[in-house]
Amino acid sequence: MCGIIAYTGDRQAAQLLLDGLSKLEYRGYDSTGISVIDPKDGPKVHKSSGKLQVLLDILGNNLPSGTIGIGHTRWATHGKPTDFNAHPHTDCSTDVVVAHNGIVENYLEIKDELQREGHKFASETDSEVLPHLIERFMAQGYTLEESMRNSAQRIRGAHAVVAASRHEPGKIVAFRLGNAGGIVVGYGKNEMLLASDIPALLNHTKTVAYLGAGETVSITNNQVTYSLLDGTPVGKKPSQVSYDPLSAAKGNYPHFMIKEIHEQPEAVVNTLRERISFDEFRTTLDEFPFSDKEVREFNRVVLIGMGTSLHAAMVGQTWIESLTRIPTEANNSSEYRYRNPIIDKRTLVISIAQSGETADTVSAMEMAKNLGARQITLCNIEGAQSTRIADGTMFIRAGLEVGVASSKTFVCSLTTLLVLAIYIAERRGTLSENHARELVTELSRLPNMLGSLLSNEQQYQTLARDYGNYSNFLFLGRGINHPLALEGALKLKEISYIHAEGYQAGEMKHGPISLIDKNMPIVALIPQDDLYEKMFNNMNEAAARGGKVIAIASEGDSEVEGIAEHVIYVPATSPLINPIPMAVPMQLFAYEIAVHRGCEIDQPRNLAKSVTVE
Ligand code: F6R
Repeated sequence: MCGIIAYTGDRQAAQLLLDGLSKLEYRGYDSTGISVIDPKDGPKVHKSSGKLQVLLDILGNNLPSGTIGIGHTRWATHGKPTDFNAHPHTDCSTDVVVAHNGIVENYLEIKDELQREGHKFASETDSEVLPHLIERFMAQGYTLEESMRNSAQRIRGAHAVVAASRHEPGKIVAFRLGNAGGIVVGYGKNEMLLASDIPALLNHTKTVAYLGAGETVSITNNQVTYSLLDGTPVGKKPSQVSYDPLSAAKGNYPHFMIKEIHEQPEAVVNTLRERISFDEFRTTLDEFPFSDKEVREFNRVVLIGMGTSLHAAMVGQTWIESLTRIPTEANNSSEYRYRNPIIDKRTLVISIAQSGETADTVSAMEMAKNLGARQITLCNIEGAQSTRIADGTMFIRAGLEVGVASSKTFVCSLTTLLVLAIYIAERRGTLSENHARELVTELSRLPNMLGSLLSNEQQYQTLARDYGNYSNFLFLGRGINHPLALEGALKLKEISYIHAEGYQAGEMKHGPISLIDKNMPIVALIPQDDLYEKMFNNMNEAAARGGKVIAIASEGDSEVEGIAEHVIYVPATSPLINPIPMAVPMQLFAYEIAVHRGCEIDQPRNLAKSVTVE
């Protein structure tokens, strides 16, 4: 996850920026850089691929002088982790410096336009369009702050952007769009700082404020102003953060779970980093352990996992089978390991375990290994047991998840599985160019889709008030969204202690429909796909029996409003992508109900983050 630190004050900035970068290392990165603005000579940029130590060795004792600067740790998305692609980036005349976190989805079109105007680019990154856009606006007479706002309105996607210009000495401006990581504003004595996360600020100040999505901030050593992207001023009061590093890591969120839900857009960027070429519409998986010949020989795929990871496996089953045309099945590890299954060396076993320590999954993997299966594991923790058993590991790169109930690890497991399915399909020649293009394009929209789902939390608070005192819930879905119904029910059970069941909507008439009455709210997952009409009928059947329906539907679908008491909209996307954005309403619904009921959200009773016993 990219990290940003910026400083303006009366101390020398360079050492302070380097210290700040060391506090952001935990986020993961592949290159680093700082830019300090010399009062006479303007911005000086020092950057390098590799770890922070490489940059420290390059700089030695020759730190650039100046009391204002920006630093960055980069996790490559567009363009390899090279020196040139590292941030900060500059405009043509090195007057403006910019550090960026996010993906500029429409960068090709903007770059093309700027190049035609004569702008010269020095990197392969999407981020570099930003300093050139700012340069263009400043040349037209706009201030740095106005130029930042204008630039924010040109780019698509979710972003955190920080910039400074030699033409406005002492000033740093930042904006945030969507949820590509936060910007925390640190208030010091005769100095101000900006950082992606609190640990980078704690040595200097405990007084902070948080930049919201769609807001800009402008700081000098003794002034801070906040505004919306249209320039409307925003009032903001700073607050004090705790000294305890874990609470500090929680930032201004009341629980880790909601923080982690909010981290999903950025986490997904990390999951996709260097695995998807957004320009060539194909996947690259350096960690994939099998040759193309072996891939062509697989005749069965078995996915295994437990709990939320099993639900990811069930979605993966549809992705892998439909894209690769290999017969595929998803299994609960604790059942599979005792089933005496048919496995041989042409079987590909894919295990999903964010902890990599789940006893049943690890045992099932060992059993499969003894029977000669080829194995890939999806995991969030380096060095975990599962990674030592599998032939290859695909890290889901969700970052540390503290909340016991999985949220971002689910979304990142799903994203990783979809990339894996596309990769195998490409190797087997079962994916048309057009379909690959469609899927990759929609994957590139994913961080933004997830971000947009986080912008209307008020509706979940209203729902929690209306539905938080019911004792039972049904979650219904069809096809690829059935596992999401299971996941929605699981989330509600584990953090709010309400009994909930997930069902295939088609199964209702075979028994469960007898449960439906006015005391049984029904969450119906009804995105636009091939099964839409069937799901619509099922929803009607439930409503006709007095069930209160909460529909989760694709944006633009007003039909469902005629039946459902409440509709939560998710961005319309390709049917195969739907389950990923669909996860977010499930999480927020369960979270707000648990808040309403006063439950222990981050550590629900009886549950553990990794289940290391059978
Ligand atoms: C539910 C949850 C659990 C885990 C399950 C498997 O929110 O977190 O159901 O998904 O215990 O854990 P891993 O993925 O570590 O194998």
